[in-house]
Amino acid sequence: MGKLEKPVIIGIAGGSGSGKTTIAHEIANDIKDQDRIMIMTQDSYYKDNTGVPMEERMKINYDHPDAFDMPLLEAQLNQLLHRKPIEMPTYDFTAHTRSDKTVHVEPADIIILEGILVLFNEDIRNLMNIKVYVDTDDDIRFIRRLERDMKERGRLLDSVINQYLGTVKPMYNQFIEPTKRYADIIVPEGGENDVAIDMLTTKIQSVLNQ
Ligand code: C5P
Repeated sequence: MGKLEKPVIIGIAGGSGSGKTTIAHEIANDIKDQDRIMIMTQDSYYKDNTGVPMEERMKINYDHPDAFDMPLLEAQLNQLLHRKPIEMPTYDFTAHTRSDKTVHVEPADIIILEGILVLFNEDIRNLMNIKVYVDTDDDIRFIRRLERDMKERGRLLDSVINQYLGTVKPMYNQFIEPTKRYADIIVPEGGENDVAIDMLTTKIQSVLNQ
């Protein structure tokens, strides 16, 4: 099976803990040619705050569009669209900044880009062929986030609650949820929605078989 003329970008947006990452991985795992699909996360494109003292870094609003290096994300997506490899930044959630390592990523036919604000920026949206919004109830998202941030991101209960009420929730309402209007498909209940995952996988597989 030959390469596509141009890679296809699928954007998966939704609030923190909505199941974006699960959906992305379920789709990628179901695709027959594993080397023709790749997953990118917008989290890798948080701005580099290495020069900012830790005290300050902890106070940054990470749910505001300004927290992301959108120009770098757009530039690297364009490189992949032109079949050029990229040096993708990596992000360290414990240190609240970019780590010094990058990952060498080869272009693929299908690029899944997942992240809270992947549908926010118009130029980035315009690079996407399929736009998905994962719509999961706020309480479920909060519970998932609490468990994950304490287990995987080195956070304490109080800090997760304060961050959620102080920035995560208001920014979700102000910036993330309104991007739902740009979606081609709205998926309720993220990773548990086998029908939606099946439909997306079938669509992608048919694009790859062209
Ligand atoms: O994986 P997920 O979509 O949940 O990642 C986005 C979340 O990561 C944002 O809601 C943001 O609050 C959080 N974040 C954080 N600390 C950072 C960077 C991002 O808690 N240093």
